[in-house]
This record gives sequence, structure tokens and C-alpha cells, in this order.
Amino acid sequence: ANKTYQFPEGFLWGGATAANQIEGGFHEGNKGMNIADVLPGGKGRLNILQEPGFQFEIDTDKYTYPNHEAIDFYHRYKEDIALFAEMGFKVFRMSIAWTRIFPNGDETEPNEEGLAFYDRVFDELRKHEIEPVVTISHYEMPVNLVKNYGGWSSREVVTFFERYVHAILNRYKDKVKYWMTFNEINSGLIMPIMGLGFSIQQEKDKYQKTFQAYHHQFVASSLAVKACHELIPEAQIGCMILYAPVYAYDANPNNVMHALSEERLFNYFCADVQVRGEYPAFINRYFKENNIELKIEEGDLELIKEHTVDYIGFSYYMSRTEKITKTEDDKAQGNILQGVKNPFLKASDWGWEIDPEGLRIALNQLYDRYRVPLFVVENGLGAVDKVEADGSVNDDYRIEYLHDHIAAMGEAIEDGVDLMGYTAWGCIDLVSASTGEMSKRYGFIYVDKDDEGNGTLARSRKKSFYWYQKVIDTNGKEL
Ligand code: BG6
Repeated sequence: ANKTYQFPEGFLWGGATAANQIEGGFHEGNKGMNIADVLPGGKGRLNILQEPGFQFEIDTDKYTYPNHEAIDFYHRYKEDIALFAEMGFKVFRMSIAWTRIFPNGDETEPNEEGLAFYDRVFDELRKHEIEPVVTISHYEMPVNLVKNYGGWSSREVVTFFERYVHAILNRYKDKVKYWMTFNEINSGLIMPIMGLGFSIQQEKDKYQKTFQAYHHQFVASSLAVKACHELIPEAQIGCMILYAPVYAYDANPNNVMHALSEERLFNYFCADVQVRGEYPAFINRYFKENNIELKIEEGDLELIKEHTVDYIGFSYYMSRTEKITKTEDDKAQGNILQGVKNPFLKASDWGWEIDPEGLRIALNQLYDRYRVPLFVVENGLGAVDKVEADGSVNDDYRIEYLHDHIAAMGEAIEDGVDLMGYTAWGCIDLVSASTGEMSKRYGFIYVDKDDEGNGTLARSRKKSFYWYQKVIDTNGKEL
């Protein structure tokens, strides 16, 4: 018989999205251009964005731009929110597109039309008793800040961000109680353009420039936490990290130490600063060995120490296995985090290794280290769905994936972990971040649109829709 799990009362069940992957309406309402708007479709999109000399402009002769229309949430949010409500969502994770509020990022006054759009969305959510969980910055940096300021490598961007944060906190203080600062903040270590707003053109930049930019983001994050606590005392604001436990390939102590170093740098470095309020001890050696000297202004470290986040939000899709010497053959294909193949795990069609027990490990490791509430704000299976003649989608593979991961959370709760909630990624089919595909689907709700942009955009319920509805209805007892 299936084991039954006890999820805490008031557990925040829901789904997660990001503005650029659902909204479309990319130049409606005076919205400015952000990174996602110049991101072409196709598997090589992230590499194209990082090519030297890339202009951050739209070139429709050369590329397609799936994020421009996305799934048209900008016009269809009422229908979509009604479907979330039908599933019983308690929360809906979304992001605010910075460029709807400050089209170029460096204006002094916010754009009223952009502010009004999110008012409409939050009011609609309220109507259905769904609490928004808002990511302030989800791979949506204004192009102007990328082109003319070098993204987060510039200290000035801290001021622009602070202005943006104040504008949205003030405007939505009665409507939003759960906030998050930077989506997958640590992903800048492997893919700086998306989160940090610049590409690495020279090897030396990789270190000095990256970590200086991180310092600016940490200052900005603390300013956001400070403002949130002052303006909305009852709100909670978290950080958001991409978390993938790192396993040593074998018991060779050298591989174990290597895995630990990777784990600390990738999984913990940012969270250590945002949650504990200080740079971790291990980073000093790393800075020294890579000739990194941070420019820290007076008051920065005190600010970081004082204004730490209330909870840790994290995405979990896969684990990673490491050894010091890798051959081409060892490499885990498709795994954006690199690492080597784990012989105990199967991978998704996109090569992401499926590891539900890894989520239990992640939850335990994070809770052991930080002792703050945790929130799984992204998890799910990107898969190809087949629409049957009668219009149904029988996505048993997705149900199995989600079942196993939710059960792993149930185990972690029994282990003593304080878990606030779970928002399944891409609760409605959306544009994939890494490939721009529609065919890499995560949703409970099917959206009729293909990789070429054809389709009616009609929404329909997959089998997993009814399954997740029952999960929420029974507070995780029936999986
Ligand atoms: C996370 C991002 O990295 O993973 C999301 O926060 C993204 O924006 C998700 O969509 C899944 O990745 P992908 O490439 O399958 O869309």
C-alpha cells in the first residue's frame, strides 16, 4: 500500500511561472525590452546570447522569438487563474517584469500602465483566494542596463533596482505577502548573462567581474529585504537558489572533497551571504587563488549582516555527480550543471537526471545548514505530450515524477524539515528558458502552441490536472 504523508496545515500548494515565459505582450503597456525579448528560439539560444559581439537587438530575419507572444497570459490571465483556482492552488508564483515598471531600468518614475497590469493580476488572484508569490527578478533584466551599464557589474544598477523594488513594494503592499529577490541567483556562476546581465568574454573576467557583480546583487538583495520588512511587516521575503545536491562519484576522498567544494561554491555561496548575512569562510581561499579583490563600500557588510532573508526558495530538478577527472564519455549529457553520469539514475528526454531522493537530501542539507523555512518553488518534468483524438493528454510520466518528488518532501518533513510549500514549475505549459521550446512541456494545463509558433493558444486540462487537484484537496495525503 502507498504510504500516507502528513503535510503541515496551511501548506502552500501551487504552481510557478515567470513573466517572460508566459506573458507575451512584449511591447504592450509601454513595456521596455528585456533580455528574454532578444533571446532567440532554439536549443542554442543561451550560447547565441553569450557570443562576443551579440547586439541585444531583435533580428527577425535571422531568428524567431518565442517569448514575444509566449502563451499570451498578458491577455488571458483571467482564464488561466480560474484554472489554477479549479486545481485548488493556494499560491501562484509569478514574476514582475522589471521592464513593465521601468522600461529602460534607469528612469526615475515608474510606468503606470505596467503597475496597473499587475494590479489586475493580483486582484484576480485575490478573487480566487490565491496568494501571489512574487519573484522580483527572474532573468528579465532591462536590455538598456545590459548594453549601457554592463549589468550587475555596475554599482549604479543597485540604485536602479532599489527604485524598482520600492515602486512595487509600495504599490502592492496590500496585495502581496510572499516575495523573492533574484531567481536562481547562483546560476550566474555558470550562465552570467541571464542573471548578472553580462557575458564572459575574457577568462580574467570570469572571476573578478562575476564576484564583484555578485557583491552588488547581495547589497541589492539586502536593500530589498530591508524595504520589504519596513513597508510590509507581515510579509516574508526569501532568496531563490538553483539547488542540485552534489554527489561524489565514488568513495575516493579526492572525489569527495571535489564534490564538497563544488557543492559549497555552487549551492551554498549565495545562500550563505543571503541567509547568514556574511561571506562564508571557504570563499576567502577561492578569492585568493583566483585573484579576486572585491570593492566593498562602507556599510555594505553591515547591511548584508542585518537584512537577511526569511526563507529559502529553491528550484530542484536534478542532482549532480562529480569526479575530478572526467572523460568526454563520463559527461552527463544535457545536464546544464555538467557533472558525470550517475549510473543509478535515468534522465528525462532533455538529459536531466531524475532523482526524487535527491530532493529529500537537498531539503535535509539546506535545513541542517540554515535552520530557516524552506520553499520548493520549482520542480517538474519537461516532457513531450501527445494530444489524443479526443483532446486528452495522458501524462502518466509527469504524474509519476511529481508523485515521487512530493513523497520525498513528505519524507523530509518527517525528518524534521520545516517546509512551507511547493509550487510545481510551469503549472501551465510555457516557453522553456534554456531552449525556447514549447514542446518541452511542464504543465497541468496544455497550451495549443508548437515550436514554430502555430496553434490556437487554447488551454485544456491534462490528466495531471485532476491528479494535482486531488493532491491539494487532500493536503498531500492522496498522492
Ligand atoms: C529554472 C528557471 O532554471 O528552470 C526557469 O528558473 C526554467 O525559468 C526552469 O524554465 C526549467 O528550465 P527549462 O529550460 O526546461 O525551461
